[in-house]
Amino acid sequence: MSAVVSQVVEVPIATWSPEVSDDQARRYAALLETGKVLYLPRLAFELRPEERHFLDPRWSDPKSKNISYDPADGRLKGARGNDADLRALRALIERFHRQALGLIQRLAPGYAAHLRGARASFRPQPVAGRATSWRKDDTRLHVDAFPSRPNHGERILRVFANVNPRGEPRVWRVGEPFEALARRFMPQLSKPLPGSAALLAALRITKSRRSRYDHYMLELHDRMKADPDYQQHAPQETIAFPPGCTWICFSDQTSHAALSGQYLFEQTVHLPVAGMYDPARSPLRVLERLAGRALV
Ligand code: SIN
Ligand code: FE
Repeated sequence: MSAVVSQVVEVPIATWSPEVSDDQARRYAALLETGKVLYLPRLAFELRPEERHFLDPRWSDPKSKNISYDPADGRLKGARGNDADLRALRALIERFHRQALGLIQRLAPGYAAHLRGARASFRPQPVAGRATSWRKDDTRLHVDAFPSRPNHGERILRVFANVNPRGEPRVWRVGEPFEALARRFMPQLSKPLPGSAALLAALRITKSRRSRYDHYMLELHDRMKADPDYQQHAPQETIAFPPGCTWICFSDQTSHAALSGQYLFEQTVHLPVAGMYDPARSPLRVLERLAGRALV
């Protein structure tokens, strides 16, 4: 089924530090906060000639697949190689991290005081064949929610850049707006079991206590992925992001699936709901309205 209104909006920005007027910034933020994917077809993340050899899956540890850079401690995880190569690879991902954060600060300056740059990742493995279970299968439409990392409503904003050297696009499906999705699944979502959040935290299965919000987001993530009829018939569009482009979305809100592609950079940014231009559009507030109660 095709989507009536596209969830993907093209933006002609071609630099990582664009000049953006206040009006434009409000428009970009409003698009992101309504769950659109901002697609920047002219913005490429450039690899230097001596960095091109990193476009090879052999740099990633088969156990972790993604290579990640954590700005909190400056460490690289999931990579294999000698010291000099790992330093160069870290510098590459760190450059993407800085450019992606800089871009968000220019596009939505209102976020700058609130946002927290989290991990950046480099994904050298092909999407196809990556999943080990239906729950981890990101070729199925889902919103991002992570079992071990409760976020109590904090937003997940992500910047993606396709750097494939062979002309292969990263192909995504983008689904229906969050409110429609939440209304559809809310009646089926199970309630958290009394005491379960404390138990999961005590067992260190979760890094902090899982709120009702986190519980419902995980349920939503799982119910979407486990429903073949929904996967096939939900309103959706397919979009091929060619090499040399960038796209941005709130991945806790925008229903998405990655069908194919190889060699991607991704930066995650966390934003408190209070830092949004319009907090009422957050998944937290939408779910609270539907549930008729506070969820954090
Ligand atoms: C995802 O966030 O579900 C996967 C994105 C990608 O690897 O293209
Ligand atoms: Fe995802």
